[in-house]
Amino acid sequence: MDIITNIAEMQQRAERLRNEGLRVGVVPTMGYLHDGHLSLIRRAREEADVVVTTIFVNPTQFGPGEDFEQYPRDLERDQQLAAEAGTDILFSPTSAAMYPEGYSTFVQVEVASSILEGKFRPMHFRGVTTVVAKLFNITKPHVAVFGQKDAQQAFIIQTMARELNMDARLLVTPIVREPDGLAMSSRNVYLSPAEREHATALYTSLKHAEQRIQQGERSVHTLRSEMEALLRAAEPTAVDYIAFVRPDQFREVETFEPPSVLIALAVRFGSTRLLDNIVVPIS
Ligand code: PAJ
Repeated sequence: MDIITNIAEMQQRAERLRNEGLRVGVVPTMGYLHDGHLSLIRRAREEADVVVTTIFVNPTQFGPGEDFEQYPRDLERDQQLAAEAGTDILFSPTSAAMYPEGYSTFVQVEVASSILEGKFRPMHFRGVTTVVAKLFNITKPHVAVFGQKDAQQAFIIQTMARELNMDARLLVTPIVREPDGLAMSSRNVYLSPAEREHATALYTSLKHAEQRIQQGERSVHTLRSEMEALLRAAEPTAVDYIAFVRPDQFREVETFEPPSVLIALAVRFGSTRLLDNIVVPIS
């Protein structure tokens, strides 16, 4: 596996690979890799001739008072995991190179950026779409892989790519979970042992809603109250939202429409925000 930190060098390398007729697959990450990230790298491996994994803790997607400084980092361990999962090139630029002094260009998708996560993290998606656009210009992917774990992010990035005529094909792959159901996340390391145990309530509440919908329950109000009760029993600091969303438009709904509903939630334990979601078919 090659490690590239220089932006121009990465661009030249990507250009050469494309000229050789090779398919470039890119997996953007903020590092501190876990099995969720590795599943994306393995998927890229199946889809492309050359897999580029990017590791960059992107300052523009963190708000003031958020965990940018504390965000876990372990580049040495990441290098080993990324290589084992099938990465050919690890691209890990510096903040100073990505955002030189006076930097002023941002990409903003207007639809869906101010609901759910966007309501709690107002500039977050502007930072995400900006860095992903930059990473695409640097790594020139034919295909890029994102995780369903961050369903709203995946929707917004797909919208950006389509509306800005980016020619990368985007793939979204399933959520990878711990054996007890907790969605894997780099931020899970922040949880105390007691919080870690309680954090299983996110998936339990989603599975509960899924089962109730399968049994015929159709009231968003009832489902939300039942989920909230299950979450509250885990003594979180806050339930930021429990949202019922039409997946193709990323719009909150009050009644279910076929073919499916996405139930997304964000819950805080201490200052740790955990996200999870499930897609439930509606017939
Ligand atoms: P990060 O949180 O490191 O996640 C990188 C990618 O891994 C995202 O596409 C995310 O959805 C996916 N992922 C994380 N946990 C997962 C899990 N348990 N199962 C499956 N996929 C999972 O998301 C970001 O970084 C950043 O916002 C980024 C897109 C890199 C832009 O900075």
